[in-house]
Amino acid sequence: MAKAALQLLLLLCVAAVAWAADDGGGGSAGMTKIKVYWHDVVAGPNPTAIRVAQAASTNASSTYFGAVVAIDDPLTSSPAAAAAGELVGRAQGTYTFADQRVIGLLMDMNFVFTAGDHNGSSLAIMGRNEVMSPVREMSIVGGSGKFRMARGYAEARTVDSGFKSGETIVEYTLFVKA
Ligand SMILES: *[C@@H]1O[C@H](CO)[C@@H](O)[C@H](O)[C@H]1NC(C)=O
Ligand SMILES: *[C@@H]1O[C@H](CO)[C@@H](O)[C@H](O)[C@H]1NC(C)=O
Repeated sequence: MAKAALQLLLLLCVAAVAWAADDGGGGSAGMTKIKVYWHDVVAGPNPTAIRVAQAASTNASSTYFGAVVAIDDPLTSSPAAAAAGELVGRAQGTYTFADQRVIGLLMDMNFVFTAGDHNGSSLAIMGRNEVMSPVREMSIVGGSGKFRMARGYAEARTVDSGFKSGETIVEYTLFVKA
């Protein structure tokens, strides 16, 4: 009897340890974590985000539904304004205002690393970006170079909305398995 009870106790302990090891916060074990700051410059003499298309009805939409913006946004290693930060790459692609009720973007971009540990490699990111939410999760659907066949996810958190400066700064934390 005592032996059976001990075995059960041991089993419960093992299960508890296994449960604790699964962090539940997205399963980031064994993944490379990369933090970069994304700078969407929409105003000033050198914008890096340009609206390239919209629907006739976009101006009447409170969520800019139908607008498409092409980006070649600087990625830096610090949250300071892009001009002051250390450039590690560029975010190139488009975002589309894809939600008729809230401001929700479809992000479709490559993070192209041009300096630092990942220079020469890139990551393809696609996902929904409801910009007013504190944390947005997007998919990492592939990559090139050291990130060939990559899978993972990105978490985006706004540092500066850019309402005043014309430069939106967003922290991207990438969890990558390659
Ligand atoms: C939408 O608004 C912009 C700027 O206010 C204007 O340039 C553009 O012509 C408008 N588009 C339509 C389809 O009304
Ligand atoms: C990044 O890699 C390219 C190509 O190998 C090289 O020419 C360049 O100097 C590197 N840049 C930095 C900042 O390491």
